[in-house]
Order: sequence, then C-alpha cells, then structure tokens
Amino acid sequence: MAKYVLAIDQGTTSSRAIVFDKAGSIISTGQLEHEQILPQAGWVEHDPKEIWDNTREAIGQALSKANITRHDIEAVGITNQRETAVVWDKTTGVPVYNAIVWQDTRTQPIVDRLAADGGIDRFKAKVGLPLATYFSGTKIVWILENVEGARAKADAGDLLFGTTDSWVLWNLTGGTEGGVHATDVTNASRTMFMDLETLQWDDEILSIFDVPKSMLPEIKSSSEVYGIASGHSLLREVPIAGILGDQQAATFGQAAFDQGEAKNTYGTGNFLIFNTGLDIIHSKNGLLTTVGYKLGDAPVHYALEGSIAVTGSLVQWMRDQLGIIKNASEIEDLAKTVTDNGGAYFVPAFSGLFAPYWRSDARGALVGLTRYVNKGHIARAALEAIAYQTREVLDAVNADSGVPLTELKVDGGATANDLLMQFQADIIGVPVVRPVVAETTALGAAYAAGLAVGFWSGLDDLRSNWQEDSRWEPAMDPEEAARLLRNWKKAVTKTLDWVD
Ligand code: G3P
Repeated sequence: MAKYVLAIDQGTTSSRAIVFDKAGSIISTGQLEHEQILPQAGWVEHDPKEIWDNTREAIGQALSKANITRHDIEAVGITNQRETAVVWDKTTGVPVYNAIVWQDTRTQPIVDRLAADGGIDRFKAKVGLPLATYFSGTKIVWILENVEGARAKADAGDLLFGTTDSWVLWNLTGGTEGGVHATDVTNASRTMFMDLETLQWDDEILSIFDVPKSMLPEIKSSSEVYGIASGHSLLREVPIAGILGDQQAATFGQAAFDQGEAKNTYGTGNFLIFNTGLDIIHSKNGLLTTVGYKLGDAPVHYALEGSIAVTGSLVQWMRDQLGIIKNASEIEDLAKTVTDNGGAYFVPAFSGLFAPYWRSDARGALVGLTRYVNKGHIARAALEAIAYQTREVLDAVNADSGVPLTELKVDGGATANDLLMQFQADIIGVPVVRPVVAETTALGAAYAAGLAVGFWSGLDDLRSNWQEDSRWEPAMDPEEAARLLRNWKKAVTKTLDWVD
C-alpha cells in the first residue's frame, strides 16, 4: 500500500492539491488562484479551463514539493466549491460558457418565474432547498436560454453539466477520451434536482425547469472508485475514490460523523453544517436540508446547513475593491487599532442574504456611521459581521434541533484570526474550538477516498486523528453581547427591499 492520499480542493478562489499521510497530517500543498470574472453587478464567473489547468499544476506542485510520484499515492479525493455550474460540449470538451459561480445573482428573474407558481419553497419538501439564485438549477437554465446554440445542443444530448467536482473528474479520467461523468450525493443535493429520499434526479422538477436529463452526471456515493486517472500523466492509474462538496468535506474532516455533531467553516462564505444522521429534517428557521455524506452502500447521512454567502470575501473586497488593506491578514491588525466598532455595522449582503433570511432583494449596507468612525472601526465591523451572521445561523440550528450546541468546532482560513475567533466565542456564548489540521475540507476528501480503497479502515481510525489545537472561551459580558446583536439585527433590516 502506498503511503499517501491526495486531495484536490477546487475552491471559489483557488485550486489546491494536498498530500496527506495516514495520521491526517499535511505533507505538501500546491495552490493556484484563478481569476474572479465580474462582468456586471451581481455576476460572478470562473473560466473552467483555467480551473482545470490550475488543478493540474497544483497537483504537480504538491507531488514535487513532497518529492513523491504517483506510485506513492493510493487514491485521489475531490472536494469543490458547490453549486457553481459548468456546461461543456462532450465531443470537444470545451465549455459553452464560463462557470456561473454560486454567488452569482443573475438568475433572479428565473427564480421569480419559477416561484410565481407556489412560492420559493415550492420544491423544498423534495429537495430541501428554497428557490434561490445560489443553487445550480437556475444557472443551467440561464445558460440554455442565453448561450447561442446551447438549447439545441443540449436537446441533441451533446452537452454535459457538472459542478466543478464533475468537471475535474471528467477531465482527470480522460475527458473526450471516455471521461467519467459523475458526481456525489452531496453535490447533487445542491442543484434543486435531486430527491433527498431516493437520491436520484427528479423527472418532474427537471421537466418544470426544462433541463434535459442527459446533461446531468450520474449520482454516486461520496466514497467509491469512480474511475482511474488518465487525463494527467502525473496521476496515471491512480483511482479517484472520494467526492464531497467542500462544506460536507469539512464536516467529514472534522470527524463530525454522527447525529448532533457540527462544524463551522470560515471560507469565502461561512457554512455551518449540523449532522442529522439518517433523518431528513426540514428546518423551521431558514436552514437548508442537505446530504452530509454517503459511504459506498452504507446509509446516507443528512444535515441541516446554515449558509452565509459573504464572510471571507468581504475581507477580499476590502483588499481588492477598497484597497484599505494589502493582504487579507492585515485586517486583524487594522481592527486592533480600535477597541470596538465605534457604532458601525457592516451587513455584507452582496449576493442578497442567505441563511436564515433568504432575501435576494437585500444589498450590502454600512450603517451607524458618524464622523468618529475610522478605517479601524470599519475593519472591526467587517470582522464582527462574520461573527454575527454565524450567531444567527447557530440560533437557527439550536432552535431546529432543540438541543443547543455546547461548543463550536471551526476550520478554514479566517480561524487564524485570533480577534475574530475571540469575538465569535463572545457573541455566541459557547467555546470555539479549532483542530490541529485546520485544512479540514481537503482532509475530508482525502478521508472519503482513503476509506474507499482501504487506506483507512473505518471511522474510528479517522476520529483518533482529530486533535484540539486552540480553544476560545466566551469572555464578554452577556448584556453587551446582547446589545451588539440587537444593533446588528437592526442593521440587517436596512438592507432589505433594496432591489426592485
Ligand atoms: O456553497 C458554496 C461553498 O461550497 C463555497 O465554499 O469555501 O469555496 O467559500 P468556499
């Protein structure tokens, strides 16, 4: 048996390849950022070709940094930004349009059209999701309706759709030379088209959306051999054996395998996932119902999810669009130049508001300004926004489950920000806990792949890899926390009804 498993993490801002050993420790990492294409307000695209090229190069970087070859890799796992839709021609392998990213809001008119008959919760009982621009379904419809020739080609069976896991898998397994067109249950559960009970595409919803089933990938479990790599010489003959959407992968990497366990990831957005075991729970508080994971033939695990669209990307926005910091990590120092938010609240409703509000008519607002407010306060307000949004999602999880979480397991880039983590603990009133390996997204995909090929023997093996690294205890006076939260909620009301 080879010594390592390789995870590909195709994320919103970059594509990475990470080599893990049996203890779940990182051996090496390759990473390349791709361009965020912003053609007009509300539109966000990626170039699928750039994503595939970067993925290939990241794999090369990771292998060469570790000084290993494909013979040292037992299996490959894929994790990915979810919902982002790629449509390509299966005979040429060329995408018919850029990938439409999960944050993109251009499909609002399609959402409104579909919601006109039955409201936004029209399909929720079956698929667990409200109608929203966030999910892949309306993005596919947009491409079919707006890209010249796409509808005819799709009807002729020449087009394939995939989230970026499918795009990477298809290319990695040979592309036009017999590439495997598949996805896993977690990614399929983010399209609007998968029935949560049967784990199959739903013909009725497909016909309402007018999307041909021939475009869709085959739905598989999260842990099985999907195919053998042939599209990249560096991985030739290595099995691809795990796929999980990035948030579900992080949950898996945090070893939150059982009902009642949860994690919160701080990435481009924040995503809190609460494992509900074998039960499909429909939220009464604005959470999504989604698939947690499915290992081969074993029963599927479901989850409730609180998705927050803009958290880390707010910091990026302050770097790229405002230029008040030069790199993302500077935000902490800037926020530390002041002791509080100076009365400023920043609601980053750039893609509308996701959980628990689901208000696509919302747009961002910076409120409570006086002449006293400086850029330190604004930096602080941006970090606080991440924590307030998480508090609102946690309240929804606690209300739905009836059993409040006693601590919050966290991961992702922004967990390196000590000020943010302390404020997070203060504002939720329970400890925040980070594991040693904070790259839980890639780790989860590696776990899924390694389990399928016997690299790890079972979940207990993986549980014993989890180790606590840092813990932040709540220290703020609860009355002060309640006051801040009250003001935050008031600020949220200022963002609503903004789009006609
Ligand atoms: O649903 C979107 C999510 O999968 C994106 O995650 O980490 O790329 O922001 P991330």
